[in-house]
Amino acid sequence: MMGIQRFFLTLAITLSVLIGNGNPVLSFDGGGSHQKQQPTLCQELIIPFGYPCSEYTTQTQDGFLLGLQRVSSPSSLRLRNRGERGPPVLLLHGLFMAGDAWFLNTPDQSLGFILADHGFDVWVGNVRGTRWSHGHISLSEKNKQFWDWSWQELALYDVAEMINFINSVTNSKIFVVGHSQGTIISFAAFTQPEIVEKVEAAALLSPISYLDHVSAPLVLRMVKMHIDQMVLSMGFHQLNFKSEWGANLLVSLCDTRLSCNDMLSSITGKNCCFNESRVEFYLEQEPHPSSSKNLNHLFQMIRKGTFSKYDYGKLKNMIEYGKFKPPKFDLSRIPKSLPLWMAYGGNDALADITDFQHTLKELQSTPEVIYLENYGHVDFILSLQAKQDLYDPMISFFKSTGKFTSM
Ligand SMILES: *[C@@H]1O[C@H](CO)[C@@H](O)[C@H](O)[C@H]1NC(C)=O
Repeated sequence: MMGIQRFFLTLAITLSVLIGNGNPVLSFDGGGSHQKQQPTLCQELIIPFGYPCSEYTTQTQDGFLLGLQRVSSPSSLRLRNRGERGPPVLLLHGLFMAGDAWFLNTPDQSLGFILADHGFDVWVGNVRGTRWSHGHISLSEKNKQFWDWSWQELALYDVAEMINFINSVTNSKIFVVGHSQGTIISFAAFTQPEIVEKVEAAALLSPISYLDHVSAPLVLRMVKMHIDQMVLSMGFHQLNFKSEWGANLLVSLCDTRLSCNDMLSSITGKNCCFNESRVEFYLEQEPHPSSSKNLNHLFQMIRKGTFSKYDYGKLKNMIEYGKFKPPKFDLSRIPKSLPLWMAYGGNDALADITDFQHTLKELQSTPEVIYLENYGHVDFILSLQAKQDLYDPMISFFKSTGKFTSM
């Protein structure tokens, strides 16, 4: 456990190091950011640009209260007054992010706004544990059980609930857009017939199911040092890099061999196209909390090359699953009839090309694919050229499925 010393050694560091721009931009709130009454996502990032936005809360089968935002375009008001809306689209954000991810640039650059401008009925997902989710019916964030989940529950409970809820409000099948962890949970959810039957088509940015070719140096170091198991055994169940210990943990991983100067690149790969002068603004929103168990599950995938349920070890697997090994999510169970569109990047250190090809091989269908050589992992949501490179082709793909009768 060499890492523990390094972990405690590092003090008084600011999270600005996360991006390496030298300015202290994050305050440490020690987690638990729910105590203060804060503005909603609608109020903070969407309504100020003139887009109608309403907040919804829905409850998962295991008692989590998820926040959803519904966004439309100012110019679509006329349609809405006639009681008409375009087809619903659900946006599923990545790890350590939340629904704000789709609204971080200007309205003509950010996917959430662009989809609304094209007449979509935009629904913004926020998974459990993020700042835009609303806790749990009986557990507090201070309870260990509140954080007892991984992306498996995000797929089977959170995505399932979001899709059921939107389906019951709109009485329509749903387009799904995912980024990063949002694609992991989409793939897993789409293997479930009762979920995928309500999905019209999906567009996946930085698609991930297998993770055994991750090349991000900082991630590989964390895997090698067993940071995931260490954190859990130390009793940290919430993983919050805005908290002091979370920031220290990250910084403790840097040394002469692995500089922290460009920490974002050592986690996500070299990003070509986001706006460096907006980093402070991005860091007002990001990173959101997740669970240590989720990190552990993701690291299991890196170590073992599997796309399976959480591995508890032989004995507990037997109790949980009735088998020694955790069951796989079988990508070939995703119906061939589900239209899929995917975009991946040559500099993406998390959604590696080899892993992506592994995913493609297991699918029954042949998705439409866009390859962007210069793109790193966060370019897919933050690139200043994302509209031309990605979002316009994505919207053409959605429209090609022929569900735009009211447009
Ligand atoms: C980049 O961000 C800065 C700061 O928010 C902004 O003033 C500028 O217009 C942005 N550039 C582009 C091309 O969007």
